[in-house]
Amino acid sequence: MNEETLVSKGLKKHFGGLYALNDVSITLRKGLFTLLIGPNGSGKTTLINTLTGYYFPDEGTISYEGKDITKLGMHERFKLGIARTFQIPKPFLKLTVLENLLVAARDNPGERFIYAPIKSKWVDKEKEAYETAMNILEQLKLDHLVNSESSKLSGGQMKLLEFGRALMCNARVILMDEPAAGVAPFLAKELFSVLKNIIKNLDLTVLVVEHRLDLALEYADYAYAMHNGKVIVEGKPYEVINDERVIESYLGKRSA
Ligand SMILES: Nc1ncnc2c1ncn2[C@@H]1O[C@H](COP(=O)(O)OP(=O)(O)O)[C@@H](O)[C@H]1O
Ligand SMILES: [Mg+2]
Repeated sequence: MNEETLVSKGLKKHFGGLYALNDVSITLRKGLFTLLIGPNGSGKTTLINTLTGYYFPDEGTISYEGKDITKLGMHERFKLGIARTFQIPKPFLKLTVLENLLVAARDNPGERFIYAPIKSKWVDKEKEAYETAMNILEQLKLDHLVNSESSKLSGGQMKLLEFGRALMCNARVILMDEPAAGVAPFLAKELFSVLKNIIKNLDLTVLVVEHRLDLALEYADYAYAMHNGKVIVEGKPYEVINDERVIESYLGKRSA
């Protein structure tokens, strides 16, 4: 079985009297595409917010590669390699696709004031960043758009661009909140298939939130279903979506 990487145990998060997370334990394993499904309001976004450090849990713990990160802030978790994409993508719209990746590249000494005049310090780094960016764009099937302004991208392509920006920052675990929202089903499938390939090629760990039940199914290795702040079922994707409790949670008959 693949090694554990990002793990939560007994997470609770409440807003007033409402438990958006009520004892959530999940395990992301290295190199896997894990799917998180659940009807609106079930706590999916709150879980991503808590795993990335945007919220601190009221109870429970989060560990990354065996280290307790529950008390680390967002920036510190990002530095460790945990990144996210948002429900509404936030690329620099006026920049090209390539530029969006290059500005995300970390530790570019050319941007440091004291190094800026010393060309040899940054030329190699810049060349390396360019090559990395081109390789990522190729894998994301965005290479034909390198010089296009990012505002011209489709919704799905913007999600892939955000994913690419995270990779430029050496992210190893990427949490994606509804990357296929507003994307037509056949394009959503294309998006998931591209993700699946890059996850495999680069040995990444990805959690994808998707509220439509069947869309990402054939690409996911493992699935969690949430309802009312709890994980109600986990396991093989096909088994999870066919589980009676999951179907009922979507039909609104159950209040777990
Ligand atoms: N910042 C917040 N303040 C108050 N309630 C919130 C906040 N964020 C989420 N909630 C509530 O927590 C529950 C879970 O929300 P959310 O995590 O966004 O669900 P999902 O992403 O599955 O649709 C919902 O009832 C939502 O209204
Ligand atoms: Mg949400």
